[in-house]
Formats: sequence, structure tokens, C-alpha cells
Amino acid sequence: MRRALRSFASKKKEIVVSGIQPSPTMHLGHLLGSIRTTTSLQEDISSRCFFFIADLHALGSKQIKDEVADSSSLQVTMDSFALALACGIDPSKTCLFLQSTNPFLMELYWILSSICPIHKLESMPRLKSKSQGKPNLGLFSYSLLMAADILLYRANRVPIGEDQAPHITLARYLAEHVNIISPKTFMMPEALFSSTPKVASLQNVFKKMSSSGQADSERINLLDSPEIITKKIKSAKTDMNFEVTDDPRRKELANLMGIYSSLSGISSEEGYKSYQGKHLRVFKTDLAEKIIAELSPIQKEFEKLKKNKDHLCKLIEDGKMRALEESYHTKENVKKIFMNLEKK
Ligand code: TRP
Repeated sequence: MRRALRSFASKKKEIVVSGIQPSPTMHLGHLLGSIRTTTSLQEDISSRCFFFIADLHALGSKQIKDEVADSSSLQVTMDSFALALACGIDPSKTCLFLQSTNPFLMELYWILSSICPIHKLESMPRLKSKSQGKPNLGLFSYSLLMAADILLYRANRVPIGEDQAPHITLARYLAEHVNIISPKTFMMPEALFSSTPKVASLQNVFKKMSSSGQADSERINLLDSPEIITKKIKSAKTDMNFEVTDDPRRKELANLMGIYSSLSGISSEEGYKSYQGKHLRVFKTDLAEKIIAELSPIQKEFEKLKKNKDHLCKLIEDGKMRALEESYHTKENVKKIFMNLEKK
């Protein structure tokens, strides 16, 4: 175990940290966003990747009691962990763990809270959209916990969706503040957007595809059956023009083309070229097939992983040990800076 940890910790330039909230409805937006970015970077020898299931964020960000029970339950968290594995996050290349298993996060969070101006948290767009004017403290400090997630592992690259960008601004502000007191404590984190930084709802292109607060027909869940996927894509909202044309004003079509090209590993322009002038029905049929082909192996792998609970628990334990080892020094260092503890 120790040796494995050392080799993981060998000097690499880019430190990539990302996470997703556990959810019974993980969807295509998750896959094409931070998961895909992480699975491709984990192959890059100059990157050291961390990926976690943000089970603490799931607690703080839900307002309604039922939803708390729903998304932060251990079963949902374990399933989300298994699904991240099934999507290709490889624990021999990426430190994959549950956020709540590393208590150093809480220590850093609290220290950072002493330098985090309240107005910076108040101005977060997420707070306004989720809290209906009455946030609990957990939701209020959502961004601060996220900043602690990022800084604890000294990340400089953070794969996220577009909507998460304000959180990175806060992490940078806090990093700068600490670095003024003690230079080079943190690296400056930067957002890393995937080629499809925003997958929109299938019914309302102005909203992002989301696990909560929208109808099931608005998203493709990673565990949807082929029949459901076909149905959802067929009834995805488009405009009155039934011909595929490369027109950026046709936002619904652009969203579907973004998904198609991302899954095909081609640019949107190439995607448009191959369907130019064809009937939308043809494109939608192919898109549904593409999604099914992508998700089927993930679903099979997920079912396999779910059956082997001992194996999953072992991976969760290994992830925890690695996360602890990787973050101990940073946490201790920050503690010394702020609390003047004697240096050894
Ligand atoms: N807020 C992210 C989401 O809702 C999850 C998350 C928590 C995260 N902490 C993070 C992502 C740190 C990137 C880095 O999906």
C-alpha cells in the first residue's frame, strides 16, 4: 500500500481535482463534463488526478428534507462511486474517494472560513437559484467547501461545468490571500471546461441538464434503458425546421449536436457536415443509437460492480487512505501558517 501511494505521489505538474454530487440520477451532462475530462487526463503522465463523490455538498445543497434523505443516503453515494468507476475513472490512475472520508477537508474549510468575506458567498448565483431566499448555512457556504476541496489537494486544474466557474473565482481569491502570507502554499486553480461544458435540458435549452428540480424527460440518465433513451431523444424539443442546418440560432439542435459530436469524438462542425440537409428524424435516431452504444457498457460494468460490495468498500477505503496521505501536509502547513504552530 505504501509503495503504491508513493508512486502515485511522484512529481507531476498538473494537479487535477474534480467531483460530482451523489445522485440517483447521474446523467449525460456529468459524463461529458467532469468525468470525461478526468478519464482523459488520467492517461496523461504529467497529470495527477483526484475525483470524489461530493457527499458533503449533497447534504448542504438540498433544502427539502426528503431530498436530503434521497441524495445523501449511503446507498446513493455508493452507487455514484460505482458509476464513476464504471464510467472509466480508474483508481490505479486517479485518486477516487468519497469527500466525507477525509476529515482534513473540514479543518481547512474552517481555517479558510476565517478569511472568506461573507459578501463573496452572498453573491454566488447558485445561492440565489437554490435557496428561495432562505439558505441554510451549508448551502450558504457551498462555495467555501468547494474551495477547500480544490485547495486541499493543491489543484491547478479543475474540470467543471460553466455554471461552476464562480466557485473557482472564490478558490483563487482564497489561494491568493494565503499565498501573500506564505508564498507558494497553494497553486492557482483554473477551471477546465470540456468540449461540451454545458449540456442543456432536452426540453428547455436555457437550463442545464440537471439531476434535481427538473422532469426526467429533460435529461438522459446514465442508467436509462435503450427504450427510454430513444423515447427521450425522439421527444427532445426542437424548432419547426425539420432539416438539419448549421445555424447557431437553432439552440436546441446545437445542444443535440454537441452531445452527438462529443460522443463521436468529432467537432460540432464535422457533425453538422455529416447531417447537413438530412431530416431531423434521421439525426435523432443516430443520436439515440450513439448514446445507447456509449451507455450500455457503462451500465453492464455498473451492475457487475454493484454485485461485489466488498470490492467497492475496499476501493473506498483505499481512496480514503490516499486522499488523507495526499492532503495531510497541505492541511498541516495551513494550520501552521494561521495558528503559528511550531515548525518541526
Ligand atoms: N459542485 C460540484 C457539482 O455540483 C461538485 C464539487 C464539489 C466539485 N466540490 C468540487 C467540483 C470541487 C469540482 C471541484 O457537481
